[in-house]
Amino acid sequence: MTVKVGIDKIGFYTPNLYLDMVDLAHARGADPAKYQVGIGQSKQAVIPPTQDVVTMAANAAAQILTPTIKTQIAMVLFGTESGIDNSKATAVYLAHLLELSPQTRAVELKQACYGATAGLQLAADYVRVHPQAKVLVIGADIARYGLRTAGEVTQGGGAVAMLVAANPQILELEATSSYHTADVMDFWRPTYRTEALVDGKYSTNVYLDFFAAVWADYQRQTKLTIADFAAFTFHLPFTKMGRKGLRQILPTATPEHQAQLTAAFEASQADNRDVGNLYTGSLYLSFLSLLRHGHLQAGQRIGFFSYGSGAEGEFFSGLIQPNYRQGFDDAGLTDLLANRRAVSVAEYEQLYNQQLSSDGQDMQLAVGQEQAPYYLAGRQHEQRVYRRQ
Ligand code: COA
Repeated sequence: MTVKVGIDKIGFYTPNLYLDMVDLAHARGADPAKYQVGIGQSKQAVIPPTQDVVTMAANAAAQILTPTIKTQIAMVLFGTESGIDNSKATAVYLAHLLELSPQTRAVELKQACYGATAGLQLAADYVRVHPQAKVLVIGADIARYGLRTAGEVTQGGGAVAMLVAANPQILELEATSSYHTADVMDFWRPTYRTEALVDGKYSTNVYLDFFAAVWADYQRQTKLTIADFAAFTFHLPFTKMGRKGLRQILPTATPEHQAQLTAAFEASQADNRDVGNLYTGSLYLSFLSLLRHGHLQAGQRIGFFSYGSGAEGEFFSGLIQPNYRQGFDDAGLTDLLANRRAVSVAEYEQLYNQQLSSDGQDMQLAVGQEQAPYYLAGRQHEQRVYRRQ
């Protein structure tokens, strides 16, 4: 008998600051309805200099790890496109901060917003062969497009941490998936740049084309149809993008099922709408949002469309497990989002420009008001100084 493998637990972290999209629209001379409806975003996480992808990942992972689980983790697979070093993996810093066993394989995976999906699939295949092992999969990023750019409204940041294990509490991953790669220049960030280059409209078209291709191939491979799905979750750099994806396939469902899928989509975009773009973590925050705000039942099949510009797309599926609500801290996540402080546009712009400098100088960051257990205190001798409180 093959062992069930999938997502056992999910943790999520985003810093305690946000920018209201109505304030940003006013500051940029845009109609707030364009940001809220046209783009589909209400709030955007603002990342202070004391949080980077390593600390955000540690803050997300700390929610789902116990001393016993730490001893069972065989691998840390860290998906990010906001890495802090061209050589050393964020996963190694993370494994150290979390005090994982030295018998841990730790690597970073990069393919734009697709990295965490590569991690999830590699983790699932590993656990299918080693059912006693658990794998920590991370999707953590800071989405930066630049002040006063068209992409500014699609910024954000945070980390999703997933524990992949046999007999998972939340979701059994089904083994069949469909993936598609093409060399496309829709969004990229050469090593000399801190902000990405993007053709947002072209990227949206490539995303929709890739979704059509992998969804068709998935149906061909599995003989499943839209009728077999309770919900579809999408990579959501901004929520309108997934809405366009869903609209592409909705006409193939019955009217009653269309209403169910639309309601599920609303649940799956609720938290992304208030956090903004997570790059690698976006699809998994959307799944968490569905778990939190949807009305799911055991055995229901969920579809996942992952997309990383450049480009790689994948469609896969999983089955909701009976105790899925025990796999995440719903009340804790509600508090995390509700207790954030709104910053003014001026404060956001100041924080945006306060990242660690690129000259390698020693630097001490203004710490002291950290709400999170893990934070970045500065840089000394060209090494980041991480702290736990
Ligand atoms: N009220 C309601 N909707 C409005 C509006 C208003 N007053 N004004 C405009 N809109 C709608 C537009 O009709 C459009 O909707 P549509 O996409 O359904 O046609 C939407 O708002 C966006 O307007 P648009 O003029 O296309 O916006 P833009 O030129 O400012 O660009 C993005 C928007 C998303 C392309 C841009 O923010 C971007 O490039 N973001 C980065 C995207 C990315 O990173 N992609 C790669 C990762 S997968």
